[in-house]
Amino acid sequence: MFRSLRPSTDIIEKRRKNALEPAHANYFKGKSGSLRIMLQARHDFLSIWRRKDYTDHVSSIKLLGRQIVLVNSPDAIRYVVAKRHENFERKTPQMRRALEFLLGDGLFISDGETWKQRRPLVNDIVHKNRLPVFGKIMEKTASEMVERWSAMPDGAEVNVLFEMAGLTAEIISRSVFGNDLGEDGAKAVSEGFESYQSLIDSINLGYFLGFDEGLPVLRTPKLRKSVSRIHAIIDKVVEDHLAGRGDDQSMVELLVRRQKRNPELKLDVVALRNEAATIFMAGHETTAATLTWAWYLLSRAPWVEKSVHDEIARVCGSRVPTLDDLPDLNWCRAVIEETLRLYPPVPILARQATEADRIGDIDVKPASLVLIVPWLLHRTESLFKDAHLFKPERFLGEKRPVPYSYIPFAAGPRVCPGLQFGLNEAILCLAVLAQRFHVRVADDLKVEPQCRLTLRPRGGLPVTLHRRTTA
Ligand code: HEM
Repeated sequence: MFRSLRPSTDIIEKRRKNALEPAHANYFKGKSGSLRIMLQARHDFLSIWRRKDYTDHVSSIKLLGRQIVLVNSPDAIRYVVAKRHENFERKTPQMRRALEFLLGDGLFISDGETWKQRRPLVNDIVHKNRLPVFGKIMEKTASEMVERWSAMPDGAEVNVLFEMAGLTAEIISRSVFGNDLGEDGAKAVSEGFESYQSLIDSINLGYFLGFDEGLPVLRTPKLRKSVSRIHAIIDKVVEDHLAGRGDDQSMVELLVRRQKRNPELKLDVVALRNEAATIFMAGHETTAATLTWAWYLLSRAPWVEKSVHDEIARVCGSRVPTLDDLPDLNWCRAVIEETLRLYPPVPILARQATEADRIGDIDVKPASLVLIVPWLLHRTESLFKDAHLFKPERFLGEKRPVPYSYIPFAAGPRVCPGLQFGLNEAILCLAVLAQRFHVRVADDLKVEPQCRLTLRPRGGLPVTLHRRTTA
Protein backbone atom coordinates (compact mmCIF):
# COMPACT_ATOMS: atom_id res chain seq x y z
CA MET A 1 0.00 0.00 0.00
CA PHE A 2 2.74 2.47 0.98
CA ARG A 3 4.71 1.72 -2.17
CA SER A 4 2.11 3.57 -4.27
CA LEU A 5 2.30 6.54 -1.90
CA ARG A 6 6.05 6.85 -2.21
CA PRO A 7 6.57 10.21 -3.88
CA SER A 8 8.67 10.84 -6.93
CA THR A 9 9.30 14.01 -8.86
CA ASP A 10 8.59 14.38 -12.55
CA ILE A 11 11.23 16.82 -13.86
CA ILE A 12 11.00 18.84 -17.05
CA GLU A 13 14.05 20.22 -18.88
CA LYS A 14 13.81 21.39 -22.51
CA ARG A 15 16.72 22.46 -24.68
CA ARG A 16 16.25 24.06 -28.08
CA LYS A 17 18.51 26.21 -30.25
CA ASN A 18 19.03 29.45 -28.29
CA ALA A 19 16.21 28.64 -25.85
CA LEU A 20 16.41 26.86 -22.53
CA GLU A 21 13.69 25.72 -20.17
CA PRO A 22 15.84 24.59 -17.26
CA ALA A 23 14.93 21.83 -14.82
CA HIS A 24 11.77 22.24 -12.81
CA ALA A 25 9.15 19.94 -11.30
CA ASN A 26 6.12 19.26 -13.48
CA TYR A 27 2.73 20.47 -12.23
CA PHE A 28 1.33 18.23 -9.50
CA LYS A 29 -1.45 16.08 -10.87
CA GLY A 30 -2.04 13.53 -8.11
CA LYS A 31 -4.84 13.42 -5.55
CA SER A 32 -4.62 16.23 -3.03
CA GLY A 33 -5.33 14.35 0.24
CA SER A 34 -3.45 15.57 3.34
CA LEU A 35 -1.29 12.46 3.70
CA ARG A 36 -0.30 12.48 0.04
CA ILE A 37 0.66 16.17 0.12
CA MET A 38 2.58 15.75 3.38
CA LEU A 39 4.59 12.85 1.98
CA GLN A 40 5.23 14.65 -1.27
CA ALA A 41 6.22 17.89 0.51
CA ARG A 42 8.60 15.99 2.75
CA HIS A 43 10.28 14.51 -0.29
CA ASP A 44 10.21 17.73 -2.29
CA PHE A 45 8.31 20.88 -1.40
CA LEU A 46 8.45 22.19 -4.97
CA SER A 47 6.56 19.35 -6.58
CA ILE A 48 3.26 19.78 -4.71
CA TRP A 49 2.07 22.74 -6.79
CA ARG A 50 -0.66 22.50 -9.40
CA ARG A 51 -0.81 24.54 -12.60
CA LYS A 52 -3.34 26.92 -11.03
CA ASP A 53 -0.96 27.69 -8.14
CA TYR A 54 1.35 29.37 -10.69
CA THR A 55 -1.16 32.20 -11.23
CA ASP A 56 -1.64 35.62 -9.66
CA HIS A 57 -4.03 34.85 -6.75
CA VAL A 58 -4.54 34.18 -3.03
CA SER A 59 -5.99 30.83 -1.91
CA SER A 60 -6.53 28.81 1.24
CA ILE A 61 -6.60 25.11 2.07
CA LYS A 62 -6.78 23.03 5.24
CA LEU A 63 -4.09 20.46 5.92
CA LEU A 64 -5.00 18.19 8.85
CA GLY A 65 -6.19 20.81 11.39
CA ARG A 66 -4.29 23.80 10.02
CA GLN A 67 -5.29 26.61 7.65
CA ILE A 68 -2.67 27.33 4.98
CA VAL A 69 -2.93 30.53 2.99
CA LEU A 70 -0.98 30.75 -0.26
CA VAL A 71 -0.24 34.35 -1.20
CA ASN A 72 0.89 34.64 -4.82
CA SER A 73 -0.10 38.15 -5.82
CA PRO A 74 2.17 41.24 -5.62
CA ASP A 75 -0.48 43.42 -3.91
CA ALA A 76 -1.30 40.77 -1.35
CA ILE A 77 2.42 40.16 -0.74
CA ARG A 78 2.90 43.87 -0.10
CA TYR A 79 0.02 43.64 2.41
CA VAL A 80 1.60 40.71 4.27
CA VAL A 81 5.27 41.72 4.35
CA ALA A 82 4.98 45.51 4.53
CA LYS A 83 1.56 46.90 5.45
CA ARG A 84 0.66 44.26 8.06
CA HIS A 85 4.25 43.23 8.76
CA GLU A 86 3.68 43.16 12.54
CA ASN A 87 0.90 40.61 12.22
CA PHE A 88 2.88 38.38 9.87
CA GLU A 89 6.50 38.91 10.99
CA ARG A 90 6.59 35.70 13.03
CA LYS A 91 8.45 32.76 11.54
CA THR A 92 6.58 29.46 11.55
CA PRO A 93 7.05 26.97 14.40
CA GLN A 94 8.64 24.68 11.81
CA MET A 95 11.40 27.20 11.13
CA ARG A 96 11.81 28.33 14.74
CA ARG A 97 11.87 24.80 16.12
CA ALA A 98 14.27 23.61 13.44
CA LEU A 99 16.80 26.38 14.07
CA GLU A 100 16.44 27.40 17.73
CA PHE A 101 18.87 24.77 19.03
CA LEU A 102 21.57 26.10 16.74
CA LEU A 103 20.79 29.83 16.50
CA GLY A 104 18.98 30.57 19.78
CA ASP A 105 17.26 33.93 19.38
CA GLY A 106 19.38 34.91 16.35
CA LEU A 107 17.78 37.43 13.96
CA PHE A 108 16.60 34.88 11.41
CA ILE A 109 14.05 33.37 13.80
CA SER A 110 13.48 36.10 16.37
CA ASP A 111 10.46 38.41 16.41
CA GLY A 112 8.88 41.13 18.55
CA GLU A 113 11.17 43.21 20.78
CA THR A 114 14.27 41.02 20.31
CA TRP A 115 14.02 41.34 16.52
CA LYS A 116 13.35 45.10 16.72
CA GLN A 117 16.43 45.63 18.90
CA ARG A 118 18.81 43.40 16.95
CA ARG A 119 17.81 44.18 13.37
CA PRO A 120 19.46 47.66 13.23
CA LEU A 121 22.59 46.11 14.69
CA VAL A 122 22.86 43.48 11.96
CA ASN A 123 21.90 46.06 9.30
CA ASP A 124 24.86 48.17 10.42
CA ILE A 125 27.47 45.47 10.32
CA VAL A 126 26.57 44.10 6.86
CA HIS A 127 25.72 47.53 5.45
CA LYS A 128 26.66 48.29 1.84
CA ASN A 129 29.09 51.01 3.04
CA ARG A 130 31.25 48.17 4.31
CA LEU A 131 31.33 46.47 0.92
CA PRO A 132 34.82 47.75 0.05
CA VAL A 133 36.21 45.80 3.05
CA PHE A 134 34.22 42.66 2.23
CA GLY A 135 34.90 43.08 -1.52
CA LYS A 136 38.62 42.60 -0.91
CA ILE A 137 37.89 39.35 0.95
CA MET A 138 35.66 38.18 -1.93
CA GLU A 139 38.31 39.01 -4.58
CA LYS A 140 41.07 37.26 -2.64
CA THR A 141 39.06 34.14 -1.83
CA ALA A 142 37.73 33.74 -5.41
CA SER A 143 41.28 34.17 -6.76
CA GLU A 144 42.48 31.44 -4.41
CA MET A 145 39.84 29.17 -5.93
CA VAL A 146 41.11 30.02 -9.44
CA GLU A 147 44.58 28.97 -8.27
CA ARG A 148 43.27 25.74 -6.82
CA TRP A 149 41.27 24.89 -9.95
CA SER A 150 44.27 25.79 -12.12
CA ALA A 151 46.35 23.19 -10.31
CA MET A 152 43.89 20.47 -11.36
CA PRO A 153 44.15 18.70 -14.73
CA ASP A 154 42.00 20.14 -17.52
CA GLY A 155 38.57 18.45 -17.46
CA ALA A 156 38.82 17.69 -13.72
CA GLU A 157 35.58 16.43 -12.17
CA VAL A 158 34.24 18.25 -9.11
CA ASN A 159 30.88 18.72 -7.43
CA VAL A 160 30.40 22.43 -8.00
CA LEU A 161 27.80 22.78 -5.20
CA PHE A 162 30.44 21.71 -2.68
CA GLU A 163 33.05 23.91 -4.38
CA MET A 164 30.76 26.94 -4.17
CA ALA A 165 29.79 26.09 -0.57
CA GLY A 166 33.50 26.01 0.33
CA LEU A 167 34.09 29.33 -1.44
CA THR A 168 31.21 31.21 0.15
CA ALA A 169 31.78 29.65 3.59
CA GLU A 170 35.35 30.92 3.45
CA ILE A 171 34.21 34.41 2.39
CA ILE A 172 31.55 34.71 5.10
CA SER A 173 33.83 33.16 7.69
CA ARG A 174 36.61 35.69 6.97
CA SER A 175 34.01 38.50 6.98
CA VAL A 176 32.31 37.47 10.22
CA PHE A 177 35.28 36.16 12.19
CA GLY A 178 38.26 37.82 10.47
CA ASN A 179 41.26 35.55 10.46
CA ASP A 180 40.42 34.25 13.91
CA LEU A 181 38.66 31.03 12.99
CA GLY A 182 41.58 29.47 11.15
CA GLU A 183 41.23 26.92 8.36
CA ASP A 184 40.33 23.99 10.62
CA GLY A 185 37.82 26.03 12.63
CA ALA A 186 36.11 27.31 9.47
CA LYS A 187 35.90 23.78 8.07
CA ALA A 188 34.51 22.41 11.33
CA VAL A 189 31.84 25.14 11.49
CA SER A 190 30.64 24.66 7.90
CA GLU A 191 30.61 20.88 8.27
CA GLY A 192 28.67 21.30 11.51
CA PHE A 193 26.03 23.44 9.74
CA GLU A 194 25.82 20.93 6.89
CA SER A 195 25.31 18.00 9.23
CA TYR A 196 22.81 19.97 11.35
CA GLN A 197 20.65 20.63 8.27
CA SER A 198 20.68 17.03 7.17
CA LEU A 199 19.43 15.95 10.60
CA ILE A 200 16.46 18.32 10.70
CA ASP A 201 13.10 17.21 9.33
CA SER A 202 11.43 19.50 6.80
CA ILE A 203 7.98 19.29 8.40
CA ASN A 204 6.90 19.81 12.01
CA LEU A 205 3.97 17.42 12.13
CA GLY A 206 2.93 18.66 15.59
CA TYR A 207 2.01 22.07 14.17
CA PHE A 208 -0.36 20.57 11.63
CA LEU A 209 -1.83 18.37 14.33
CA GLY A 210 -2.87 21.44 16.30
CA PHE A 211 0.11 22.58 18.43
CA ASP A 212 0.40 26.29 17.58
CA GLU A 213 4.03 26.35 18.72
CA GLY A 214 4.89 23.10 16.95
CA LEU A 215 6.79 20.35 18.76
CA PRO A 216 10.43 20.61 19.85
CA VAL A 217 12.92 18.91 17.59
CA LEU A 218 14.30 15.70 19.07
CA ARG A 219 17.85 16.51 20.20
CA THR A 220 19.59 13.31 19.23
CA PRO A 221 23.23 12.72 20.29
CA LYS A 222 24.33 13.41 16.70
CA LEU A 223 22.49 16.73 16.64
CA ARG A 224 23.88 17.69 20.05
CA LYS A 225 27.38 16.88 18.89
CA SER A 226 27.25 19.07 15.78
CA VAL A 227 25.69 21.96 17.74
CA SER A 228 28.15 21.89 20.62
CA ARG A 229 31.07 21.79 18.18
CA ILE A 230 29.83 24.91 16.37
CA HIS A 231 29.03 26.73 19.62
CA ALA A 232 32.40 25.98 21.20
CA ILE A 233 34.34 27.32 18.19
CA ILE A 234 32.29 30.51 17.87
CA ASP A 235 32.30 31.17 21.63
CA LYS A 236 36.08 31.09 21.67
CA VAL A 237 36.26 33.74 18.91
CA VAL A 238 33.66 35.93 20.68
CA GLU A 239 35.46 35.65 24.03
CA ASP A 240 38.75 36.63 22.37
CA HIS A 241 37.07 39.72 20.92
CA LEU A 242 35.53 40.64 24.27
CA ALA A 243 39.01 40.41 25.77
CA GLY A 244 40.36 42.73 23.04
CA ARG A 245 42.19 40.02 21.06
CA GLY A 246 40.26 39.91 17.77
CA ASP A 247 40.61 40.90 14.13
CA ASP A 248 39.34 44.48 14.09
CA GLN A 249 37.80 44.46 10.58
CA SER A 250 35.49 41.54 11.31
CA MET A 251 31.73 41.61 11.90
CA VAL A 252 32.14 40.02 15.34
CA GLU A 253 34.42 42.89 16.37
CA LEU A 254 31.78 45.39 15.24
CA LEU A 255 29.14 43.60 17.29
CA VAL A 256 31.41 43.58 20.32
CA ARG A 257 32.27 47.28 19.95
CA ARG A 258 28.59 48.11 19.64
CA GLN A 259 27.89 46.23 22.86
CA LYS A 260 30.69 48.10 24.64
CA ARG A 261 29.20 51.43 23.46
CA ASN A 262 25.63 50.42 24.30
CA PRO A 263 25.74 48.09 27.34
CA GLU A 264 21.94 48.40 27.63
CA LEU A 265 21.75 46.06 24.60
CA LYS A 266 22.82 43.27 26.96
CA LEU A 267 24.56 41.26 24.27
CA ASP A 268 26.30 38.52 26.24
CA VAL A 269 28.50 35.81 24.74
CA VAL A 270 25.46 33.70 23.86
CA ALA A 271 23.61 36.57 22.14
CA LEU A 272 26.76 37.53 20.22
CA ARG A 273 27.28 33.93 19.21
CA ASN A 274 23.65 33.63 18.05
CA GLU A 275 23.94 36.64 15.76
CA ALA A 276 27.35 35.60 14.41
CA ALA A 277 26.08 32.06 13.73
CA THR A 278 22.93 33.44 12.08
CA ILE A 279 24.90 35.62 9.67
CA PHE A 280 27.25 32.75 8.94
CA MET A 281 24.35 30.41 8.16
CA ALA A 282 22.16 32.92 6.30
CA GLY A 283 25.09 34.31 4.37
CA HIS A 284 26.80 31.37 2.78
CA GLU A 285 24.39 28.63 1.66
CA THR A 286 22.24 31.09 -0.23
CA THR A 287 25.08 32.50 -2.32
CA ALA A 288 26.54 29.02 -2.88
CA ALA A 289 23.19 27.81 -4.22
CA THR A 290 22.91 30.87 -6.50
CA LEU A 291 26.34 30.31 -8.00
CA THR A 292 25.71 26.59 -8.47
CA TRP A 293 22.48 27.23 -10.38
CA ALA A 294 24.24 29.92 -12.45
CA TRP A 295 26.87 27.37 -13.55
CA TYR A 296 24.15 24.92 -14.51
CA LEU A 297 22.30 27.55 -16.56
CA LEU A 298 25.41 28.85 -18.33
CA SER A 299 26.48 25.33 -19.21
CA ARG A 300 23.06 24.62 -20.78
CA ALA A 301 22.89 28.05 -22.54
CA PRO A 302 26.25 28.57 -24.30
CA TRP A 303 24.91 31.64 -26.17
CA VAL A 304 24.48 33.39 -22.80
CA GLU A 305 27.83 32.12 -21.57
CA LYS A 306 29.44 33.74 -24.63
CA SER A 307 27.88 37.13 -23.80
CA VAL A 308 29.25 36.79 -20.25
CA HIS A 309 32.76 35.92 -21.51
CA ASP A 310 32.76 38.74 -24.08
CA GLU A 311 31.69 41.23 -21.44
CA ILE A 312 34.37 40.17 -18.95
CA ALA A 313 37.03 40.45 -21.68
CA ARG A 314 35.74 43.89 -22.73
CA VAL A 315 35.57 45.29 -19.19
CA CYS A 316 38.55 43.63 -17.50
CA GLY A 317 40.88 42.48 -20.28
CA SER A 318 43.07 39.85 -18.66
CA ARG A 319 43.24 41.35 -15.17
CA VAL A 320 41.17 39.81 -12.38
CA PRO A 321 37.68 41.38 -12.04
CA THR A 322 37.19 43.49 -8.90
CA LEU A 323 34.28 45.02 -7.04
CA ASP A 324 34.87 48.29 -8.93
CA ASP A 325 34.08 46.53 -12.22
CA LEU A 326 30.62 45.43 -11.14
CA PRO A 327 28.73 48.50 -12.46
CA ASP A 328 30.00 47.55 -15.96
CA LEU A 329 29.39 43.80 -15.73
CA ASN A 330 25.76 43.98 -16.84
CA TRP A 331 25.49 40.48 -18.29
CA CYS A 332 27.04 38.94 -15.19
CA ARG A 333 24.52 40.83 -13.06
CA ALA A 334 21.59 39.86 -15.33
CA VAL A 335 22.62 36.17 -15.20
CA ILE A 336 22.67 36.25 -11.39
CA GLU A 337 19.33 38.11 -11.20
CA GLU A 338 17.71 35.65 -13.62
CA THR A 339 19.21 32.75 -11.67
CA LEU A 340 17.65 34.16 -8.49
CA ARG A 341 14.31 34.39 -10.30
CA LEU A 342 14.34 30.79 -11.54
CA TYR A 343 16.01 29.25 -8.49
CA PRO A 344 15.40 31.53 -5.49
CA PRO A 345 17.70 30.07 -2.79
CA VAL A 346 14.93 30.67 -0.23
CA PRO A 347 12.02 29.36 -2.32
CA ILE A 348 9.42 29.60 0.47
CA LEU A 349 8.80 32.39 2.95
CA ALA A 350 6.62 30.97 5.68
CA ARG A 351 4.94 33.07 8.37
CA GLN A 352 2.55 32.47 11.23
CA ALA A 353 -0.40 34.89 11.53
CA THR A 354 -0.54 36.38 15.04
CA GLU A 355 -4.12 37.67 14.92
CA ALA A 356 -7.09 37.04 12.64
CA ASP A 357 -6.75 39.03 9.41
CA ARG A 358 -7.94 39.17 5.81
CA ILE A 359 -5.62 38.74 2.84
CA GLY A 360 -7.34 39.49 -0.48
CA ASP A 361 -10.70 37.70 -0.18
CA ILE A 362 -9.46 35.17 2.34
CA ASP A 363 -10.24 35.27 6.07
CA VAL A 364 -7.14 34.22 7.97
CA LYS A 365 -7.38 32.57 11.39
CA PRO A 366 -4.85 33.21 14.17
CA ALA A 367 -1.84 30.83 14.03
CA SER A 368 -2.49 30.00 10.36
CA LEU A 369 0.41 29.26 8.08
CA VAL A 370 0.89 32.01 5.50
CA LEU A 371 3.04 30.98 2.55
CA ILE A 372 4.70 33.29 0.07
CA VAL A 373 6.48 31.10 -2.43
CA PRO A 374 9.01 32.97 -4.59
CA TRP A 375 9.38 29.74 -6.59
CA LEU A 376 5.74 30.11 -7.76
CA LEU A 377 5.65 33.89 -7.91
CA HIS A 378 8.75 34.12 -10.11
CA ARG A 379 7.23 31.58 -12.50
CA THR A 380 3.85 33.29 -12.80
CA GLU A 381 3.32 33.98 -16.51
CA SER A 382 1.33 37.23 -16.07
CA LEU A 383 4.31 38.68 -14.14
CA PHE A 384 7.19 37.18 -16.16
CA LYS A 385 6.69 36.36 -19.86
CA ASP A 386 8.06 32.91 -20.76
CA ALA A 387 8.31 32.37 -17.04
CA HIS A 388 9.98 28.94 -17.17
CA LEU A 389 12.63 30.05 -19.70
CA PHE A 390 16.14 31.25 -18.88
CA LYS A 391 16.27 34.77 -20.33
CA PRO A 392 18.75 36.98 -18.47
CA GLU A 393 18.18 39.75 -21.02
CA ARG A 394 14.93 40.53 -19.18
CA PHE A 395 17.15 42.12 -16.50
CA LEU A 396 19.30 44.19 -18.87
CA GLY A 397 18.82 47.96 -19.18
CA GLU A 398 16.32 49.90 -17.11
CA LYS A 399 13.54 47.27 -17.08
CA ARG A 400 12.54 46.16 -13.57
CA PRO A 401 9.89 43.63 -12.51
CA VAL A 402 6.57 44.82 -11.04
CA PRO A 403 7.11 45.74 -7.33
CA TYR A 404 6.69 42.72 -5.00
CA SER A 405 6.77 40.27 -7.95
CA TYR A 406 10.53 39.58 -7.70
CA ILE A 407 11.56 38.83 -4.12
CA PRO A 408 14.58 36.50 -3.91
CA PHE A 409 15.74 38.53 -0.89
CA ALA A 410 12.18 38.82 0.54
CA ALA A 411 10.74 42.35 0.97
CA GLY A 412 9.48 44.75 3.64
CA PRO A 413 11.14 45.26 7.04
CA ARG A 414 12.39 41.63 7.11
CA VAL A 415 14.14 41.95 3.72
CA CYS A 416 17.53 40.24 3.70
CA PRO A 417 20.05 42.61 5.32
CA GLY A 418 22.80 40.88 3.32
CA LEU A 419 21.19 41.72 -0.06
CA GLN A 420 24.07 43.88 -1.31
CA PHE A 421 26.69 41.59 0.17
CA GLY A 422 25.15 38.45 -1.40
CA LEU A 423 24.35 39.98 -4.79
CA ASN A 424 27.79 41.54 -5.23
CA GLU A 425 29.51 38.41 -3.99
CA ALA A 426 27.66 36.20 -6.48
CA ILE A 427 28.35 38.53 -9.44
CA LEU A 428 32.01 38.96 -8.53
CA CYS A 429 32.70 35.26 -7.95
CA LEU A 430 30.96 34.40 -11.22
CA ALA A 431 33.11 36.93 -13.11
CA VAL A 432 36.40 35.86 -11.49
CA LEU A 433 35.82 32.15 -12.16
CA ALA A 434 34.14 32.49 -15.60
CA GLN A 435 37.09 34.57 -16.80
CA ARG A 436 39.31 31.52 -16.46
CA PHE A 437 37.04 28.46 -16.64
CA HIS A 438 34.17 26.83 -18.50
CA VAL A 439 32.09 24.79 -16.08
CA ARG A 440 30.41 21.91 -17.93
CA VAL A 441 27.41 19.87 -16.79
CA ALA A 442 27.16 16.52 -18.64
CA ASP A 443 24.46 16.56 -21.34
CA ASP A 444 22.70 13.55 -19.91
CA LEU A 445 22.79 14.63 -16.24
CA LYS A 446 19.29 14.77 -14.78
CA VAL A 447 19.24 17.86 -12.57
CA GLU A 448 16.56 17.93 -9.91
CA PRO A 449 15.82 21.01 -7.78
CA GLN A 450 15.43 20.07 -4.13
CA CYS A 451 14.14 22.31 -1.39
CA ARG A 452 15.76 21.91 2.03
CA LEU A 453 16.51 25.10 3.98
CA THR A 454 17.76 26.35 0.64
CA LEU A 455 16.98 25.33 -2.94
CA ARG A 456 19.79 23.24 -4.42
CA PRO A 457 20.27 20.47 -6.99
CA ARG A 458 19.57 17.10 -5.35
CA GLY A 459 22.94 15.44 -4.68
CA GLY A 460 24.79 18.60 -5.72
CA LEU A 461 26.00 19.33 -9.25
CA PRO A 462 28.81 17.16 -10.71
CA VAL A 463 30.68 19.13 -13.40
CA THR A 464 33.96 19.18 -15.28
CA LEU A 465 36.28 22.21 -15.26
CA HIS A 466 37.93 23.41 -18.48
CA ARG A 467 40.52 26.14 -18.77
CA ARG A 468 39.53 28.94 -21.13
CA THR A 469 42.20 29.37 -23.78
CA THR A 470 41.11 32.91 -24.65
CA ALA A 471 41.60 34.23 -21.09
C1 HEM B 1 22.14 35.34 -2.76
C2 HEM B 1 22.25 35.50 -1.46
C3 HEM B 1 21.12 35.64 -0.48
C4 HEM B 1 19.77 35.43 -0.63
C5 HEM B 1 19.03 34.98 -1.88
C6 HEM B 1 19.16 35.72 0.65
C7 HEM B 1 17.80 35.65 0.89
C8 HEM B 1 17.22 35.93 2.11
C9 HEM B 1 15.80 35.86 2.36
C10 HEM B 1 14.74 35.47 1.35
C11 HEM B 1 15.60 36.20 3.67
C12 HEM B 1 14.25 36.26 4.40
C13 HEM B 1 13.87 34.90 4.91
C14 HEM B 1 12.52 34.92 5.59
O1 HEM B 1 12.04 35.99 5.93
O2 HEM B 1 11.98 33.82 5.81
C15 HEM B 1 16.90 36.47 4.25
C16 HEM B 1 17.09 36.85 5.56
C17 HEM B 1 18.33 37.07 6.10
N1 HEM B 1 19.53 37.10 5.45
FE1 HEM B 1 19.81 36.73 3.47
N2 HEM B 1 20.13 36.09 1.54
C18 HEM B 1 21.33 36.08 0.89
C19 HEM B 1 22.56 36.42 1.43
C20 HEM B 1 22.76 36.87 2.71
C21 HEM B 1 24.03 37.31 3.23
C22 HEM B 1 25.32 37.37 2.42
C23 HEM B 1 23.84 37.63 4.55
C24 HEM B 1 24.81 38.17 5.56
C25 HEM B 1 25.97 38.66 5.28
C26 HEM B 1 22.44 37.38 4.85
C27 HEM B 1 21.85 37.57 6.07
C28 HEM B 1 20.51 37.40 6.35
C29 HEM B 1 19.92 37.58 7.67
C30 HEM B 1 20.66 37.92 8.96
C31 HEM B 1 18.54 37.37 7.52
C32 HEM B 1 17.46 37.47 8.60
C33 HEM B 1 16.86 38.86 8.55
C34 HEM B 1 15.63 39.09 9.43
O3 HEM B 1 14.90 38.15 9.71
O4 HEM B 1 15.42 40.25 9.80
N3 HEM B 1 21.82 36.93 3.70
N4 HEM B 1 17.86 36.32 3.28
